[in-house]
Amino acid sequence: MIGQAYFRSQTFKAQPNRSPLVHTPALIYDLEVFKKRFLVLKQLEGDLNCKFHSAIKAFPHAKVQEIALQYGLGFDVSNYNEYAFLMAIARNLDWGHPIDVSITGPFLSEIAQTLSNVQERRHQHHSHSSSATRINVDSLTQYLSLKDELPEWVEIGTRILWEIDPGKRQSTRFGICTSDTEVFREIARDRRFSGFHAHISHKEKHDQSYVQCAESIVNLASQIGCAYKYINFGGSFHRESPAEITNLVLQLRRVIPSDVTIAFEPGKYWAKGAGSAITKVLDIKRMSRREGYWIVLDISKDCHLRWCKPIFNLPIDLSQSRRSVPAVFTGPTCHEGDILGAVELPLLESGELPISLGAVLRLRNIDGYAVAWNSEFNGIEKICVTFCEPSTELTYAVTAC
Ligand SMILES: Cc1ncc(COP(=O)(O)O)c(C=O)c1O
Repeated sequence: MIGQAYFRSQTFKAQPNRSPLVHTPALIYDLEVFKKRFLVLKQLEGDLNCKFHSAIKAFPHAKVQEIALQYGLGFDVSNYNEYAFLMAIARNLDWGHPIDVSITGPFLSEIAQTLSNVQERRHQHHSHSSSATRINVDSLTQYLSLKDELPEWVEIGTRILWEIDPGKRQSTRFGICTSDTEVFREIARDRRFSGFHAHISHKEKHDQSYVQCAESIVNLASQIGCAYKYINFGGSFHRESPAEITNLVLQLRRVIPSDVTIAFEPGKYWAKGAGSAITKVLDIKRMSRREGYWIVLDISKDCHLRWCKPIFNLPIDLSQSRRSVPAVFTGPTCHEGDILGAVELPLLESGELPISLGAVLRLRNIDGYAVAWNSEFNGIEKICVTFCEPSTELTYAVTAC
């Protein structure tokens, strides 16, 4: 019977007979992954006149956003609370440099009030820096309600409603339809007008949909006759290699004038490959209607991993097993749908399950949204969030079995 978890990554080492340093359930993120991504994208910015932002909602933890700030990234902020969170990080670091902030969201009145109170200090920053604070309005009504509140130094952009497949039953609820040229014309008349924002759905993220979106924005701008400084393509950015990213930006550059900054605001992207969840088996039950097992874990899809698709790193050598059974991993809540995933579990030669009560498992593919969703639904405790670097060897014994 396998009684301990085997962590094959360099950051984890199973050390039987030592007490655990990490208690379950826990989320562990490797900060080195973030730093490498921040560095790679930062290096591309200068060469390609583009800008990368960190979407605060995708990893609302000061440790990660502090690093993003130190690496010179911009930020995607959705409302007052996210803005206040970012400003608190900057204050803690005694940050004296300008910060690039792109603000897009349905509820911006509080943030507009806050910005109106910091007029002078920010104005000085922006006189010798390309960094800016930009509000991308989502509708004419939102623009009209904010325009008098917003100070001169805050730039204003418009969010474009962008969808590749307009035949879909449910259209996106964000942005202004490109056919509403009168609305764009009115907003672009504002002295502070400076650009466009479009968030392209993750299902439409091939290079061609970016290019189509860019063409549509460039046409719109020429139709309404406005000058603009940036086009921000929002989140859902999932390109890995610098070559792929460069290729995308170069394709966009064929359409977008050279003095216009191309911006992206990746969220999920930054944590890709950085996050693991450590969890313990609480219960094992046979299924009633078919062969298989329910394996109850102390981590919950509902409370902790709502948008994650965990990959199970099971301490089992698949090649040596002749028979397997379906196993469904569930969370500890009373919600029937609190299911984390299913695997074919190879059985031991004896026919026994290779996992027993108390076994500790590592789930990979854990994103930063898990930190945002971390809740106490159904009386389940919030999960502990920790960070590591490859140089810090996390050693802990795996309890149980
Ligand atoms: C405006 C905006 N920017 C960025 C993001 C981050 O998206 P993702 O995590 O898919 O990269 C989102 C996500 O909803 C968004 O709405």
